[in-house]
Amino acid sequence: MKLIAFGVRKDEEPYFKNWEQENGAEIKLVPDLLSEKNIDLIKGYDGIIGLQTTPYKREYFEKMKDAGIKILSIRNIGIDNIDLDAAKDNLIPITNVPAYSPSAIAEFTITQIMQLVRHIKIFDEKMSHQDYRWEPNISRQINQMTVGVAGTGRIGRAVINLLDGLGAKVIAFDPYHNPELEKRGMYVDSMEEMYRKADVITLHMPATKDNYHLLDNTAFSQMKDGVMIINTARGTLIDSEDLIKALDSGKVGGAALDTYEHELPIFDHDLTGQKIDDPIFNNLNERNNVLITPHIAFYTTEAVKNMVEVALNCAATYLNDGKMTNPVVEID
Ligand code: NAD
Ligand code: COI
Repeated sequence: MKLIAFGVRKDEEPYFKNWEQENGAEIKLVPDLLSEKNIDLIKGYDGIIGLQTTPYKREYFEKMKDAGIKILSIRNIGIDNIDLDAAKDNLIPITNVPAYSPSAIAEFTITQIMQLVRHIKIFDEKMSHQDYRWEPNISRQINQMTVGVAGTGRIGRAVINLLDGLGAKVIAFDPYHNPELEKRGMYVDSMEEMYRKADVITLHMPATKDNYHLLDNTAFSQMKDGVMIINTARGTLIDSEDLIKALDSGKVGGAALDTYEHELPIFDHDLTGQKIDDPIFNNLNERNNVLITPHIAFYTTEAVKNMVEVALNCAATYLNDGKMTNPVVEID
């Protein structure tokens, strides 16, 4: 079995190498993400192990078909960047790793909620010039606040478990109800109801065509004054320009963004000393009530080990037995 893995970081290498030894496979590790520049490297391999938020374009699937690639196994969750029709048309099955560690993202989400609620960036900034005063940045307590969890899949539910421990009142919205949460009477009937009731709103749904710019002027206008917004899901869920307006007016009191709609040229790149040519990003980043992190909610040792090992197992199971584990695109 010959596999080629793209976007491989140093912290992933040991997991790839151990698996390679234990399974008698051959894996080529490519540090760069799959792109026009390196797609021709796939010739001679049986399967691809991918991880990226940049697009998997139709032309890549055409090249995969020509090269005789039998499986694309992505080692992450999100599939919003994949041309799924092109994969089907070119007979390339795809698997993903849907549950590498919901806790990784959930713990990070709680970290950001607490940082926002307790005004940590504001205090950090004050202290950087030796202003150690308390006033006027008094906080509320999370155990007195209502947190709206939008999307109650694996990550949303892990977030709810942690919020329970903190004593927050949780309300949730998801078109598909989880029976346990349903029994607890946690669901509201619509996002609009969540907008009216929540002090903090945290997003945990996949990005789709239907929820592009879900949080826009109309949505923000229905929210409580000073609401805090957390996005560890996907950047396209928020209209960033409308968020800026809502921050300016005070309608939104703070935001924590681990994903940003134009993140591709910025996140996971070393731009030290360079001017970032994105006024929307710069505007958000300069605010002391906006926390931007470069898509790191997933980035823990436990998650990374699972991402690599499960993706390799998915590819091997398909190549050896023809069975799809965690199917995203199945070919009949
Ligand atoms: P999941 O499939 O287990 O759950 C997603 C839930 O969202 C489902 O229950 C679904 O019914 C619900 N949903 C879909 N559309 C909705 C809508 N419009 N409103 C409300 N709910 C809706 O997925 P998950 O594992 O919980 O992951 C959620 C998302 O988190 C992923 O799709 C990915 O985009 C993102 N993610 C981000 C990171 C990161 O590092 N920041 C890491 C992993 C995943
Ligand atoms: C995902 O798993 O969907 C993520 O957002 C993590 C990222 C490394 C692609």
